[in-house]
Amino acid sequence: MWIVRLFAAVALSTMAAVPAMAQSPIVIKFSHVVTENTPKGKASLKFKELAEKYTNGKVKVEIYPNSTLYKDGEEMQALQLGAVQMLAPSTAKFAPLGVKQFEALDLPYIFRDQAAYDSIINGPVGKGLMARLDAKGIHGLAYWDNGFYVISANRPLIHPEDLKGLKIRISGSKVDDQTLRGMGANPQIMAFSELYQALQSGVVDGAQNTASNYTSQKLFEVQKNMTTINHVHLQYAVITNKKFWDGLPADIRTEVSKAMDEATAYNSSISVQENVDAMKLMRASGKIDIHDPTPAELKEWQDAMLPVYKTAAARIGQDMIDEMIKAAPSAIINTTK
Ligand code: LMR
Repeated sequence: MWIVRLFAAVALSTMAAVPAMAQSPIVIKFSHVVTENTPKGKASLKFKELAEKYTNGKVKVEIYPNSTLYKDGEEMQALQLGAVQMLAPSTAKFAPLGVKQFEALDLPYIFRDQAAYDSIINGPVGKGLMARLDAKGIHGLAYWDNGFYVISANRPLIHPEDLKGLKIRISGSKVDDQTLRGMGANPQIMAFSELYQALQSGVVDGAQNTASNYTSQKLFEVQKNMTTINHVHLQYAVITNKKFWDGLPADIRTEVSKAMDEATAYNSSISVQENVDAMKLMRASGKIDIHDPTPAELKEWQDAMLPVYKTAAARIGQDMIDEMIKAAPSAIINTTK
């Protein structure tokens, strides 16, 4: 059914995207899967505001949040076909395009802290990954941040072995799959829009995500236990259809890029605090029991996840992992020495 919607949208948006003879604006449809009160939701609204302002209304940005247009399994194809002009999927969702190297960003504890994340993503590693998208008809515009994952289930997750046998929803990364499988869990790929119901009905037992994603989708209301192991970092690549982008008049492209740069700075300025606020909200709610691991417990989690560096190397290349560790020493390598 969505394929019918997709083709209808391609037809419509192809018409809308043609720079107008009769002054109709260039329409940028921007689809994403989270709510408007998240770091990604807010940054996309900021981008809309600035892009429309800087182009004096020659560009109109239509934001479709919370999977209202496409679910996360559908949106990449919609972009390649030109049915939407912009997306901001998590980088965990790029492997189906054949750009497996993005999954290096999903390695557990690869970023020692937020500063290490910032330096890797804004340095040669981040830029090199984006450049790989051009061959897929996609142009990368920016990285947007959403912070580190916590993990949840309906039983206390104090030690890695507590995950054994649990069905844990993942968003698509093979490295996430290997990490959890290595600890005896049963990872299941599922669209973000289906997660609340899947947790509520017991289709899956648990999940991993950022605090702001837990609160904005109310996921914490359908989970009993959460542990703040901060193991994987969630980031988005803001991407556009390359043909559409290259076809924009140069002056418009310049203004839209400026809007994107400022929206990106705005995203960086709020993403850490949004998670702090979300953690506070969940702790105060009394709806979920939140465990902060002791340093010894954290070391257990890191040790349990370390073997994935070997299996992941076979998929994404040891050189890629080495490059990242050289750019900013990872937490896991440090703590296991
Ligand atoms: C997920 O699927 O868990 C995330 O990618 C959702 C999002 O975009 O934050």
